[in-house]
Amino acid sequence: MFSKLNILFAIFSLHFATVLASDPDPVQDFCIPKSKFGSDRTAHGLLTILPCKNSSEVTTDDFVFSGMKVAGNFSDAELAVISANPTNFPGLNTLGMSFARADIEVGGINPPHFHPRATEIVHVMKGRVYSGFVDSTNRVFARILEQGEVMVFPRGLVHFLMNVGDKPATLFGSFNSQNPGMQKIPSAVFGSGINEELLQKAFGLTPKQIETMRRRFDPNRAK
Ligand SMILES: *[C@@H]1O[C@H](CO)[C@@H](O)[C@H](O)[C@H]1NC(C)=O
Ligand SMILES: *[C@@H]1O[C@H](CO)[C@@H](O)[C@H](O)[C@H]1NC(C)=O
Repeated sequence: MFSKLNILFAIFSLHFATVLASDPDPVQDFCIPKSKFGSDRTAHGLLTILPCKNSSEVTTDDFVFSGMKVAGNFSDAELAVISANPTNFPGLNTLGMSFARADIEVGGINPPHFHPRATEIVHVMKGRVYSGFVDSTNRVFARILEQGEVMVFPRGLVHFLMNVGDKPATLFGSFNSQNPGMQKIPSAVFGSGINEELLQKAFGLTPKQIETMRRRFDPNRAK
């Protein structure tokens, strides 16, 4: 009896954890927000519950996003990412999904990063990319993806891409959260202001080497 109860409890807990860890289920067909999400695109800002428009004011255009027909701006020199999420694509609001386009120059990378709230499926539309992720035992699962191939990065695991082809690569990624979140490992570690002594001990680096890393990854520091 006890063991049965325990098993039931375990199943219930697992199920509950899954429910808590994903976006809430919609309770209506859609919810186009009446007002725009704040320009503050923090995790909390995005998840704010906004009142929905009266459906008589909703139009087809609310469900169409035209902002990824061409590559975005190559601000990081080699990588251009355009995200479609409820802040710029109102139709997605409350649906628990979002989408992105990434263009990578020849030899360019998308550095190791993870999305705390979403599994990602990436589709190589054009080009050839080395792509992979690392699981929680530090095993790496990586290989070269050819045009047309698709890879999945399980939620919360560190993943990365590098264009190993001879022309620019174009990829599309979809996420099972309207607000996947993103942490880039290099800037989370060296660009966030973590205590320097701790970084020295963690990485076995000298103060000078830490300074070099900080100058590279901290946007608030002069280059
Ligand atoms: C929605 O709009 C319709 C048509 O303008 C109106 O009849 C209805 O009362 C509105 N509903 C709400 C909840 O405001
Ligand atoms: C790229 O930059 C230009 C000029 O700053 C801007 O007008 C445009 O909206 C940007 N495009 C994207 C996709 O962010």
